[in-house]
Amino acid sequence: VGHIYDVQELRKTTISRIPERFIRDSTERPDFDKAIASTNNNIPVVDFSKLCKGNRDELCGELLKIKYSCEEWGFFQVINHEVNLELLEKIEKVAMEFFLMPLEEKQKYPMIPGTVQGYGQAFVFSENQKLDWCNMFALGLEPQHLRNPKLWPTKPSNFSETAEIYSREIRELCKNLLKYIAMTLGCKDDVFEKMFGVAVQAIRMNYYPACPRPDLVLGLSPHSDGSALTVLQQGKDSSVGLQILRNNVWVPVHPIPNALVINIGDTIEVLTNGRYKSVEHRAVTHKEKDRLSIVTFYAPSYEIEVEPLQELVDDKNPCKYRRYNHGDYSKHYVTNKLQGKKTLEFAK
Ligand code: SIN
Ligand code: FE2
Repeated sequence: VGHIYDVQELRKTTISRIPERFIRDSTERPDFDKAIASTNNNIPVVDFSKLCKGNRDELCGELLKIKYSCEEWGFFQVINHEVNLELLEKIEKVAMEFFLMPLEEKQKYPMIPGTVQGYGQAFVFSENQKLDWCNMFALGLEPQHLRNPKLWPTKPSNFSETAEIYSREIRELCKNLLKYIAMTLGCKDDVFEKMFGVAVQAIRMNYYPACPRPDLVLGLSPHSDGSALTVLQQGKDSSVGLQILRNNVWVPVHPIPNALVINIGDTIEVLTNGRYKSVEHRAVTHKEKDRLSIVTFYAPSYEIEVEPLQELVDDKNPCKYRRYNHGDYSKHYVTNKLQGKKTLEFAK
């Protein structure tokens, strides 16, 4: 894989010269002019309180928004989501404290090659590969046997406890959102919950240090998610960094205070036979500001066989994906570099 850099350390030492391995080909570089031009093009916002406590009209209105978001954007933001706001602050705080510890402390939990668990840079498999301007820390959470106790940090002291509570609350949100997503498809509302078994859940914290040349690098390479559903929390004081590909333009996602960003992953694209899109996205960096994002991936149990739901396949909508085992898909996903929607070819 060649030399691996720690981007926070790099940031401390090289102020002006960016190592070659981070410099993208001109076609891949962020085009800030275009991104600025599309600032009025915002992803839909769904009010969770209207879904679970609203009257009939409010419920229908929000369900329509979810349907539209999943068909047209693959992304939406959710407000009034019932995840404790102090908990959002707390997880952000422990994540920040973790990343700001000395390198030696973080290196006690090294990224295990071929997995996405531990501290470092994931998805790097060859010397020719460009590197992302980002440090990651990732943990498997559920089911319990995915946990590697050696990777759970002892510092900051409340990290593990906070991650545990956070994971439970986000899991509830995922279950609820999948229920509403099922309703928007005209399916039984428990169709996903029943199929998924004991769902797999993982967390990844991404730390993007400020970069002297944000025009040359990417914080995170373009990819679609290998999950069913992803929940993304953007750090409160972070710069805008997430961009999603829509009609061939990278659209920035402007953080809404206290909102969570939800996106459809590859599994839902397959299960809905392509009706709901797992949309390509990437992260860009900022010249002066660091950025933190905390991402939860929610997916079926590894034993589950995935294929388009029968009720979404007919003469007009012929089956677009093959049946595959989700464990095999996950393995495929974590052992390949991030490259747009390429991993989904596994299902073709
Ligand atoms: C991700 O796609 O995993 C993270 C993107 C972000 O940091 O906003
Ligand atoms: Fe992602």
